[in-house]
Amino acid sequence: MTLPNRNRQIVLAARPEGMPKESDFAVKDSPIPEPGPGELLVRAHYLSADPFQRMRFEAQANYGKVLQLGEVIRGRMVGEVVRSNNPGYKVGEFVEGMLNWQEYAISDGSTARAEYAPGIAKVDPAIAPIQYSLGVLGFPGVTAYFALFDCCEPKPGETVVVSSAAGAVGSLAGQLAKIQGCRVVGLASTKEKTDWITRDLGFDAAINYTKYDSSEALLGAIRAACPERINVFFDNTGGWIADGILPHLAKNARVVVVGNIVQNNRAVKEKRLDPNSYIMVNRATMRGFIVYDYEHRADEARHAIARWIKSGHIKVRETVAHGIENTPKAFISMLNGGNIGKQLIKLV
Ligand SMILES: NC(=O)c1ccc[n+]([C@@H]2O[C@H](COP(=O)([O-])OP(=O)(O)OC[C@H]3O[C@@H](n4cnc5c(N)ncnc54)[C@H](OP(=O)(O)O)[C@@H]3O)[C@@H](O)[C@H]2O)c1
Repeated sequence: MTLPNRNRQIVLAARPEGMPKESDFAVKDSPIPEPGPGELLVRAHYLSADPFQRMRFEAQANYGKVLQLGEVIRGRMVGEVVRSNNPGYKVGEFVEGMLNWQEYAISDGSTARAEYAPGIAKVDPAIAPIQYSLGVLGFPGVTAYFALFDCCEPKPGETVVVSSAAGAVGSLAGQLAKIQGCRVVGLASTKEKTDWITRDLGFDAAINYTKYDSSEALLGAIRAACPERINVFFDNTGGWIADGILPHLAKNARVVVVGNIVQNNRAVKEKRLDPNSYIMVNRATMRGFIVYDYEHRADEARHAIARWIKSGHIKVRETVAHGIENTPKAFISMLNGGNIGKQLIKLV
């Protein structure tokens, strides 16, 4: 395969204040790197836009490594091996990993993936479309599976509330809770999203949270949608949305804190409710979740999810942008709720 003479990369041009702007990113041309001994060159087919990337743009990250100005944006990719000096990988095979927002990436073939390490995993296109390795069979899938089943242990008949319910993680978490026999209520920002999760994914109820201008107003809608109170809260958003849900926990409720997207794009963080009263009175458990703690068990989730996709119990939806130059726009759109299901950027 003849390679082009440039590798286009997306770099951080400025640190965003609040919601990122397209001018916070730049497209940089670099030469395509030559793989050294033991290395391979990967041509990106899809890039992934994930909320965690936003946190890396801060001058001080609360988790993970800070990205410096001018550095290539750290992010996940699935692509094809186009050159290989590593006997473990053949040209033509597909791999997924934290190989960043660029058209071509070098990997040393390492498989270490914890804590944002750039280790790669092989992807078999015979099992599922390769881009599923960035979504339902990738870190979002592993997150939904273990944050729900391991951290919350939902039981049939229990009420499960999922925020950001039409996104990559939330749409899967809700479907998994339905498979478990739960009553599932999802929150999302548009009618198209609430219709999708109730009509197509089988959620029992959906709340368009944009109709409410405060936690107190949202709590009224939550009470109406969850007459038996909430046994499991799968929290993808934090902020005022979580504060409109937490006061309605049931006794012995489990809350898993998966994301904080309401706060991540705010220059000034919202003040939150004091959790002691509703956690104590309800004997509730609130647990933080980071997907990398489950990397060693990821195949367990992938195999179960792949089986449920095949049996029709899990439906997959993607929002796909095209061309590396549109990656920042797609990322910003995802942060603003422009995606339904997994946000991807297709390059090939
Ligand atoms: N802890 C972990 O290890 C881990 C791993 C993966 C993901 N996550 C977290 O899980 C959450 C979902 O991730 P994802 O990849 O599945 O993303 P996603 O839900 O597919 O996309 C992000 C969604 O966030 C919602 N959103 C954005 N700003 C919001 C705001 N101010 N208030 C309420 N909702 C807002 C939007 O949905 P609406 O249009 O419905 O508002 C948007 O579609 C994120 O918080 C992410 O950081 C955590």
